Amino acid sequence: MAVDYTTHDGVAVITLNNPPVNGLGLSTRAGIVEGIERAQNDPAIKAIVLTGAGKAFSGGADITEFNTPKATQEPTLATVIKIVEGSVKPVVAAIHSVAMGGGLELALGAHYRIAAPGAQIALPEVKLGILPGAGGTQRLPRAIGLEAALNMIVSGAPVLSEKLADSGLFDEVVQGDLAEAALAFARKVGAKEGPHPKVRERKIEHPNAAGFIQFARNSVAGIAKNFPAPHKCIDAVEAGVQNGFDKGLEFERECFIALVQTPESHALRHAFFGERAASKIPDVPADTPVRDISTVAVIGAGTMGGGIAMNFINAGIPVTLLETRQEALDRGLATIRKNYEATVKKGKLKPEALEQRMALITPTLSYDDLKHADLIVEAVFEELGVKEQVFKRLDEVAKPGAILASNTSTLDVDKIAAFTKRPQDVVGLHFFSPANVMKLLEVVRGKDTAKDVLATVMKLAKKIRKTAVVSGVCDGFIGNRMIEQYIRQALFMLEEGALPAQVDRAIEKFGFAMGPFRMSDLAGNDIGWAIRKRRYLEHPDMHYSKIADRLCEMGRFGQKTGGGWYDYKAGDRTAYPSNVVDEMIGEFSKDTNAARRKIGDEEIVERLVFALVNEGAKILEEGIASKASDIDMVYLTGYGFPLYRGGPMLYADTVGLYNVERAIRRYAARPNGDAWQLAPGIAELAAKGRGFND
Ligand code: 3HC
Ligand code: NAI
Repeated sequence: MAVDYTTHDGVAVITLNNPPVNGLGLSTRAGIVEGIERAQNDPAIKAIVLTGAGKAFSGGADITEFNTPKATQEPTLATVIKIVEGSVKPVVAAIHSVAMGGGLELALGAHYRIAAPGAQIALPEVKLGILPGAGGTQRLPRAIGLEAALNMIVSGAPVLSEKLADSGLFDEVVQGDLAEAALAFARKVGAKEGPHPKVRERKIEHPNAAGFIQFARNSVAGIAKNFPAPHKCIDAVEAGVQNGFDKGLEFERECFIALVQTPESHALRHAFFGERAASKIPDVPADTPVRDISTVAVIGAGTMGGGIAMNFINAGIPVTLLETRQEALDRGLATIRKNYEATVKKGKLKPEALEQRMALITPTLSYDDLKHADLIVEAVFEELGVKEQVFKRLDEVAKPGAILASNTSTLDVDKIAAFTKRPQDVVGLHFFSPANVMKLLEVVRGKDTAKDVLATVMKLAKKIRKTAVVSGVCDGFIGNRMIEQYIRQALFMLEEGALPAQVDRAIEKFGFAMGPFRMSDLAGNDIGWAIRKRRYLEHPDMHYSKIADRLCEMGRFGQKTGGGWYDYKAGDRTAYPSNVVDEMIGEFSKDTNAARRKIGDEEIVERLVFALVNEGAKILEEGIASKASDIDMVYLTGYGFPLYRGGPMLYADTVGLYNVERAIRRYAARPNGDAWQLAPGIAELAAKGRGFND
């Protein structure tokens, strides 16, 4: 049973008991109704307390039920709230820990609300691409006022209960034992004559409601560009302001039903569950013991090492930072300090916190200082020989059980592990640049990496607020292996008739933060050149366009050299289409006898995105990623794939794998078609009418 019912001297206590967060699934909803009715029918009961067991009052509607028959099966949440609100005996919601979404809406249906301090109060539906669908857009403005409510509804951000103590939401914020306080409060109101207050009967008072609503619309314009929910939130609040509670509620319901079907909501829910699923590794049980990580060491204070160190410092974990030369160490420390200073300037960090954070770094040139570290992350030059030196030395100095991690982006983690006598303790931690900002962390699992090492780094990733995704060992891991196929297609399209700005514009219109050519100019075209040179030796059979090599031979490495695929002006990151490059592209097509043709935006998007999908399917087949949503999380958090499309694999499901397969076969039959080797998994799933995420 998802709800417990107990009585305490004239008070009935209905306790939601549906771990982990008391989601309001069908059985919980039915249990609440049963409890209310039982209390109504018991003459000894004078008042009812509604609360939650465990770590939440309630995390809201059960998202897993969305778009299933259970979601609309009675009693729906709207019905439950109506019954709670209609109860003749007063209902007191006793809130602790979390009251979110439908959970808060349920509490708003109660006659009284008391809360423990520290509870997170939110209507986060907008983050799932929907709006509060059980009266939240109507009752919250009546409880706390139009402005505060709209802010909460369109941001979805949690507010601590104590901050809302005087808002009109709570009758009391109680220190001490909430259960005891709730019983006492219930007895007090149980002794009162009814009817008991209802939030729906309060008025929304605002000197200029229409003006504020317009202001809210303007403020969400940016985020609302690709998401319909924020505007609908405002529309629903406005409907209640203009037409009263019942009409507002009706409108809210209509909007909810429409929004829950949108691809944007589907994508956001996919990302919500994908993020949580990523931390679960199929053969590493949830109860795997973890190693204690209280101190960390980082080797190399360059671009990556500095950013990596900042992650741990920000989480309060002291870091020993090792370099080979004092000046490199000083430079690294100065960069870290500069980064924090910029954060202070933006008002996001208190000046005194800067020094506290810097004090958590112990700079050193000596490996002896690493012997106490629980985790050591290597971020030195990307050369196997240098990694070998470092890991051999680490094997000598690191304490037994210390986790030895490499931030390598292209090298074989198994080879690196083999430089030590403890390959079970070695793991790849592939941070993305800038490492203190980017959410993604690819955790590279070597063939010998111990399960408790994986469990430990996944837990640590949460602490440093990263989205960690496990990848097996392969060239490029999940993210870069896929992006290579995407870049390959982008380059072929230049040969065949497109220009960089056209390719970038098409994919940016699709929603990518940055097209492949702007991205390459930012990262440095020489990096891709170096990788290709390696490929030409390792895979002479693999067909690459040589067009990017010609660009590099012109010395156009990107922003850092003032020109790449685009021209740049000093101190200006704007990419200006380049006549020189466009001419070079035309010449290149001539030299290679490639017939130039007009390439439409649809083809550009298909070839780029399906190249990701096709490689993603192979990555799944090979077990490099354990589930499609892991691949999507890599692309959403590390590669600027549009969130509202849910990642490449979900996007492929949306298009339909039948259509993806047909498109790939079509491109495979055209010039440069040898780059398309259809992943068998796509054909298999398409034949079954299934998708990657089914
Ligand atoms: N429905 C179903 N499952 C939920 C859920 C929900 N509303 N909220 C959380 N869960 C699940 C998670 O998927 C996770 O499952 P797992 O263990 O199998 O991976 C588990 O609960 C624990 O979640 P977290 O790892 O996120 O736990 P935290 O303690 O870090 O956070 C939380 C708890 C703050 C409640 C966070 O889970 C959260 O933000 N949940 C979403 C809240 C939300 O968006 N509610 C609105 C729902 S929509 C709604 O109510 C519609 C209504 O207006 C009609
Ligand atoms: P970097 O050149 O900026 O920094 C490397 C630092 O390591 C330098 O400060 C150097 O002095 C130091 N170093 C070299 N040998 C050392 C040794 N034996 N002991 C101690 N310190 C030593 O390089 P970057 O970009 O920070 O890359 C580091 C690693 O991170 C590489 O493996 C790279 O592939 C990887 N990586 C880089 C990304 C990027 O975008 N730059 C992204 C993800 C991973």
